[in-house]
Amino acid sequence: MIVEKAPAKLLPIEIEVDSISFTYPSGIQALEDITIHVSSGERVALIGQNGAGKTTLVKHLNGLLKPVSGSVKVGSWDTHDHSVAQMATRVGYVFQNPDDQLFQRTVWDEMMFGPRNLRWSAERAASSVQASLEMVGLEHIKEMHPYDLTFSSRKLLALASVLAMDTQVVIIDEPTTGQDYRGVQQIGSILSELNKQGKTIIGVTHDIDFCAEQFERSILMAGGRVVLDGSTRQVLSQISVIDQAYVEAPQLMRLAEKLGWDFMPLTVEEFIHHLDG
Ligand SMILES: Nc1ncnc2c1ncn2[C@@H]1O[C@H](COP(=O)(O)OP(=O)(O)OP(=O)(O)O)[C@@H](O)[C@H]1O
Ligand SMILES: [Mg+2]
Repeated sequence: MIVEKAPAKLLPIEIEVDSISFTYPSGIQALEDITIHVSSGERVALIGQNGAGKTTLVKHLNGLLKPVSGSVKVGSWDTHDHSVAQMATRVGYVFQNPDDQLFQRTVWDEMMFGPRNLRWSAERAASSVQASLEMVGLEHIKEMHPYDLTFSSRKLLALASVLAMDTQVVIIDEPTTGQDYRGVQQIGSILSELNKQGKTIIGVTHDIDFCAEQFERSILMAGGRVVLDGSTRQVLSQISVIDQAYVEAPQLMRLAEKLGWDFMPLTVEEFIHHLDG
């Protein structure tokens, strides 16, 4: 009898950040009493001005930083009790600056580094690496040195190297920095594809239009605290609150507010639809 192998299934993983605070050794308190819960498969944006604490918060989700007080759990794993290597099997983190992440001599070696550390078979590693390079459109430059790539390609390589590890949770820190319009669209469609696969996506972004188009939920941070947390429409509609956090509300919403609309459009399509309706 032939027994069919069931397709690999993603393990649903909840993230629970419970009253965490964090102070850097320099004495700067970067996070203060943060509590958030992210369900499996959600698509969440973290927004806020420079220094709000966004990167510090996401570095807690894969255990790169441990809270001074409070706890971070990814599934049943508390980051206090698990190594960064263990956490990396559940949470992939694409660094804000690719040069902090990339350190191998060829694109291929860079890509293989994570899967090798996960002790995958050579065949599984190579097939995941190939698929991830194709997803970001870098499959033709395997032998190049990462530092010979443009900044936008290094950002894509950093993303691909995390995708190759096939984690349930993908965190991407400022994905659109340095990307042109086409690059931004490409990253948006990669995030949609990952989300279709059931993955949880947490994106840190200054790009408020990207936030409006790509994320169903948004968390606004200021001064190391969470100021707003809700659907992206609810959060971005609170124009005076986000102004106070020095984040610029989307132009469309500002316009809708000036026009006295109750409806706050997130995308150009919604705006046009409302005008037509
Ligand atoms: N390695 C570090 N050592 C000391 N202080 C740090 C370090 N990294 C960040 N900080 C400080 O912690 C606070 C939060 O920084 P963080 O990088 O988390 O903010 P951010 O919201 O990601 O900002 P940006 O939008 O500029 O990336 C800031 O005051 C920052 O100067
Ligand atoms: Mg940051």
